[in-house]
Amino acid sequence: MEIRTVGVLGCGLMGAGIAQVSAQAGYTTIVREVEQPFLEKGLGRIKKFLSDGVDKGKVTPDARDKTLGNLKGTTSVDDLKDCDLVIEAIIESLDEKARAYEAVERVVRPEAIIVSNTSSLCVTELAAKTKRPDRFGGLHFFNPVPILKLVEVIRALTTSDETYKSLYAFAQALGKEPITAPDKPGFIVNRLLVPYLLDAIRAHEHGLGTVEDIDKGMKLGCNYPMGPFTLLDYVGLDTTYYIANIMFEEYREPAYAPPPLLKRMVLAGRLGRKSGQGFYQY
Ligand code: CAA
Repeated sequence: MEIRTVGVLGCGLMGAGIAQVSAQAGYTTIVREVEQPFLEKGLGRIKKFLSDGVDKGKVTPDARDKTLGNLKGTTSVDDLKDCDLVIEAIIESLDEKARAYEAVERVVRPEAIIVSNTSSLCVTELAAKTKRPDRFGGLHFFNPVPILKLVEVIRALTTSDETYKSLYAFAQALGKEPITAPDKPGFIVNRLLVPYLLDAIRAHEHGLGTVEDIDKGMKLGCNYPMGPFTLLDYVGLDTTYYIANIMFEEYREPAYAPPPLLKRMVLAGRLGRKSGQGFYQY
């Protein structure tokens, strides 16, 4: 099926990034938030990224204007009625997502595809919440979405071959590099990244080194763009804790068990950049 019009549910950090790359790739893109102030914040983030891009010489003024011209914000699900693909990027709650799919399915055409950008929930379970489990899948983007090239394409047990092929081709049309990941906790990237981040916390708790030295070690010794603690603060400690718990629940392997310090930092509200304090102060 040809995708022309794309809907994005949620204009938070991920939703805004996804809406931006979709509009940048030439798709008519409609992004929906529940309330006007959240929508304005998300659209403001897109506008700032594009104008910073112009200042840096990375985006032409014409490309910025075309992207913004392809983009429409709304608080009404009804405005998604002409979408061929709806990408859901709302909070990681099965109930909230199921409610969102029900609302979308009331307005979109039967052949429209719905995908989730979930990083932790079971895509087959999400598909089962819809009336179109064959036209449902996962597209997992990485933060910052406009910069990082990867998209994981996830097939639920029920995803049809046609849907999978459309999603893979769509990710390529966005200028991204797709990989096919299984519908298993963490998919491919978080399956490897999360145990590494948890291990860094455990090692620090056990006296391996300071937060700064461990970060410096991995950044300068392995040429990683960020050390593990900087990355934990960037991803969010609550998000990491949430993903780790889901992975541990399913695999029951110690590598996925959240370390005590992570749990306590989340309980204390030290969530990383978003709360002003995590392993570092912001
Ligand atoms: N418009 C266009 N291009 C822009 C831009 C803008 N507004 N702002 C930055 N860029 C470009 C820069 O020009 C630069 O391009 P070049 O490499 O061609 O020079 C590139 O983007 C990087 O930008 P910066 O130089 O400003 O930033 P940086 O080098 O400090 O890198 C970073 C910042 C990209 C965040 C980098 O530190 C990084 O990749 N960190 C790791 C992030 C990561 O691991 N993310 C995944 C998290 S896990 C996840 O998301 C999934 C999950 O489920 C939890």
